[in-house]
Amino acid sequence: MPLHMIDNVSIPEDFNLPARQTLEQKKKDDTLFDEALALIKEKNALLIAHYYTSETMQRLCEAAGGFIGDSLEMARMGRDSDKNLIVVAGVRFMGETAKILSPEKTVIMPDLSAECSLDLCCQVEDLKRVKSAHPEATVVAYANTSAAVKAQADWIVTSSLAVELGKYLTSKGEPILWVPDRHLGSYIANQSSSDVYCWPGRCIVHDAFEANALEFVKKENPDAMVLVHPEAPAAVVERADYVGSTSQILAFAKSSDCKKFIIATERNIFYKLSCACPDKKFIEAPVASTKGHCISCANCPWMELNSLESLIKALNNPSSHALDVDESVRVKALKPLERMLNFSADLKSGKIVLN
Ligand code: 13P
Ligand code: SF4
Repeated sequence: MPLHMIDNVSIPEDFNLPARQTLEQKKKDDTLFDEALALIKEKNALLIAHYYTSETMQRLCEAAGGFIGDSLEMARMGRDSDKNLIVVAGVRFMGETAKILSPEKTVIMPDLSAECSLDLCCQVEDLKRVKSAHPEATVVAYANTSAAVKAQADWIVTSSLAVELGKYLTSKGEPILWVPDRHLGSYIANQSSSDVYCWPGRCIVHDAFEANALEFVKKENPDAMVLVHPEAPAAVVERADYVGSTSQILAFAKSSDCKKFIIATERNIFYKLSCACPDKKFIEAPVASTKGHCISCANCPWMELNSLESLIKALNNPSSHALDVDESVRVKALKPLERMLNFSADLKSGKIVLN
């Protein structure tokens, strides 16, 4: 059995979720579009947004000549841009990654309290202890971790590369200590036959997709394909026709001949899916409810903190919205991040070929 679950690490019971945006706040954001656009231009900033930010934020990003992508592409874009002011609309690990790769640039975020439940599931002191219990294992940290955790890792990886890295390390005979997502860890073990010591963290959004309810939706839509992000539970992943990162899901939907898809990832991706495929139908995969109410409803509460109102505040007062990573941590975290970016480039160029 190549999967070994780790216990005895601190996983929050609930995550102290931020308040949801009200309808009034959402409407206000729409009225701030032109002001935000003018400020981005005036400050000569590059706006980089994740697919899980609001449709208004993604539209702004397009209008401002910014970039929308998955977490791997966002990291690359932050590193390669020649702009000195980068605005990351996403969650904190995405901003930190940009800062680690480009310390000379000012990297700001609309709201610095935009967390990620996976990041909150992995405390660096726990990781140091577990690492010392498995000195033979290669530490692979998901990008959804703090800079301090990244500094403890041999490799960083995003969802778009996780299985490939698992296969690569297996080919070298290296067991993996994987943090922090339990579902992606088990998917890597399953797909690559890697020996994986797996952290028990979870994404509150993807963990809620529900396999039995998905079966019903599949039966009602026998002509639909099921596209799933690998942070979803194994029983949901097993029912998928395709498993991939946000960008990979988008690319699959675009190139497929199928006209109907059931999507198991954060619901703001529907904006780009419907722009890219206006002739295709996208259906939300069902989520389970907890204690009688839905905790995320496939909508990340931390991503939602990226309002245009906060973005305007950040651009007007960059110093109070800037990411700061301790230099000794940054230098250590840079190595595994660069390894990931080089690995990705080597896979693309054919320098690394996997079986
Ligand atoms: P991607 O790497 O697919 O963009 O995923 C990031 C993320 O936070 C998923 O919840
Ligand atoms: Fe983190 Fe999940 Fe939100 Fe992605 S969707 S940022 S993994 S909490």
